[in-house]
Amino acid sequence: MTTYITKKSGKYWPSKEMKKIAWVKDDKIYKKAEKNPVKFWGELAKEGITWEKPWEKTYEEKLPYFTWFKGGKLNFCVNALDRHLDKNKTALIWVPEPVKEKTVKLTYGELYDKVNKFANVLKKLGVKKGDVVAIYLPLIPEALISILACTRIGAIHSVVFSAFSAGALKTRIKDGKAKILISADGYYRRGKPENLKKKVGEAVKGTKVKNIIMVDRIQKNKKYRGKYLSFEKEIDKADSYCKPELMNSEDILFILYTSGTTGKPKGVIHDTGGYATQAYWTTKWNFNLREDDILWCTADIGWITGHTYAFYGPLLTGNTTLIYEGSPDFPNPGRWWDIIDENKVTVFYTAPTAIRMFMKFGDKYIKKNKLKSLKILGTVGEPIDEDAWEWYFKKIGNSRCPVIDTWWQTETGGTLINALPGVGPFVPTVAGKSFPGTRHIVVDKKGKKVKSGKNGFLVQLSPFAPGMFHGIYKNHKRYVKTYWKRFKDKYDTSDGAFIKEGFIRVTGRTDDVMKVAGHRLSTAELENALNEDKIVNESAVVPIPDKIKGEVPIAFVVLKKGTASEVLEKKLKKDVDKAIGPTARPVKIYFVDELPKTRSGKIMRRILKNILNKEEPQGLATLVNPKCVEEIKGVVGEGIVKK
Ligand code: WT7
Repeated sequence: MTTYITKKSGKYWPSKEMKKIAWVKDDKIYKKAEKNPVKFWGELAKEGITWEKPWEKTYEEKLPYFTWFKGGKLNFCVNALDRHLDKNKTALIWVPEPVKEKTVKLTYGELYDKVNKFANVLKKLGVKKGDVVAIYLPLIPEALISILACTRIGAIHSVVFSAFSAGALKTRIKDGKAKILISADGYYRRGKPENLKKKVGEAVKGTKVKNIIMVDRIQKNKKYRGKYLSFEKEIDKADSYCKPELMNSEDILFILYTSGTTGKPKGVIHDTGGYATQAYWTTKWNFNLREDDILWCTADIGWITGHTYAFYGPLLTGNTTLIYEGSPDFPNPGRWWDIIDENKVTVFYTAPTAIRMFMKFGDKYIKKNKLKSLKILGTVGEPIDEDAWEWYFKKIGNSRCPVIDTWWQTETGGTLINALPGVGPFVPTVAGKSFPGTRHIVVDKKGKKVKSGKNGFLVQLSPFAPGMFHGIYKNHKRYVKTYWKRFKDKYDTSDGAFIKEGFIRVTGRTDDVMKVAGHRLSTAELENALNEDKIVNESAVVPIPDKIKGEVPIAFVVLKKGTASEVLEKKLKKDVDKAIGPTARPVKIYFVDELPKTRSGKIMRRILKNILNKEEPQGLATLVNPKCVEEIKGVVGEGIVKK
């Protein structure tokens, strides 16, 4: 492609070349889908997914629940692997972090062989349809083999981010009652091996896990005893074919935990047929995947983006996906761009936080790279600011590639609001339109649609997208309360947004959820971790803006006993590492005598935010202890400057 994207009235538009190769070329598709979204999705599901038995009802809604393709039967693994076998094509490219280690490529056939064998390993260990298998793996091929093996036998996988702590893993294992855990001895991060084995040992204590299957990532041929088994050795012994289990469209495919407004993470449930349909079509249309395209989505398997776009989406469409084990700046900040050139990546999908980090490193690390293979760029996870958008567009995309800013959530399973590459427009900071066949509007507190350009709450309207989640694992009450209480028959995204000229701009969370380097964390989870310490009386955590990470947590702690000190601050930060993981570690802990509270005892985090941002605290009249505000101001002093 030679033609550059054109800019008219502040908006970028697709080039002629992009129009030529695009699956979707004009915006008529939106109108067509809107006329009858259920029929639209029905046609897409038929075309994109291989069904063993057709469904009886395309969509059924009994709020707060709804189902897609009821009565339809399929196997997810067959859709991701079996139907692409005749292509003899690379399915996965794995780039290990150590530069000396060779890149590994697996064809669909090789992957199929390993998945079948591993599915038999799981079966032999007693895993049955509907059982939960916990997976605590870094970005290595075995993560893909494991999740696909689960889908082959109809087991539900529950992946836990490998940088999460033993405590976080234990909570998730317990909630899902997993009997099998798949993990590894470790992984490489910034040139050093990170140990997972120790965390695994701690996490399984007191759970129902009876077997732990370990991948030897750091040290080959380790000997395992007792509950522990070797991934490699078990695979070597297994039969090479495993018959795929016939699943109902609405059977659970996986659980993935995410943070909400309480301390306990929520097990978001995704089903099989609806999720597969949305994953297939969003991958194909957003990234315009043709036969030879190679997609690199930089997300970890521990997050929904890793599930849908690093693994499932590109396999459903029969493309090649690339994953990279390590740190973006190892051995130097040019690593990612080298990987793109070496592997001729055509579609690159990452988070604004990473883009901001590379901007800071400076242009010198991309000078030697050509980045000519790239056709489309994508972002996800948090709002992207104009500077980061323009830098990404110009420096990485050479002003040739559309930047697709995709809004979605763990709950939505796949992307929902973004521009399509052959349609556009691509507008910095604006996500765009609802994906064809879905509808989002912005409403006020009462659920009434607001005028164009006005801020409000982003909601999704019925019929709800096929990839949407189907509840919180074993917690109906929380599902209703979080998503369906405020706006009744509209799905509450908990995001703020406004719509201008028909395009949606998402402004960020409206609840006590933070986005730290794109990772979703709740203030309550962090507070619980701090309050666990015997010397802590209570705590409050608030996010402040950060140039690279978007937001970072700051903690305010009231001690029961003892005196504030740097040593104590370090210890409390360690408590958070232990309970959740270093991603959640507060950048600063302030020790105060009192937290601002209302008469009913609610901590007013907003006032703490005001103090940190050097704004005049609002709503002091509602406080039972307004005097504490001056004390807190004193403690914070000039310590934090708004970035
Ligand atoms: C929250 C969901 C979606 C997969 C990764 C994150 C924020 C996500 C955008 C975007 C503005 C965005 C929202 C959303 N978000 N994408 N393009 N523009 N905000 O999934 O961890 O479930 O977080 O991320 O606040 O609610 P998640």
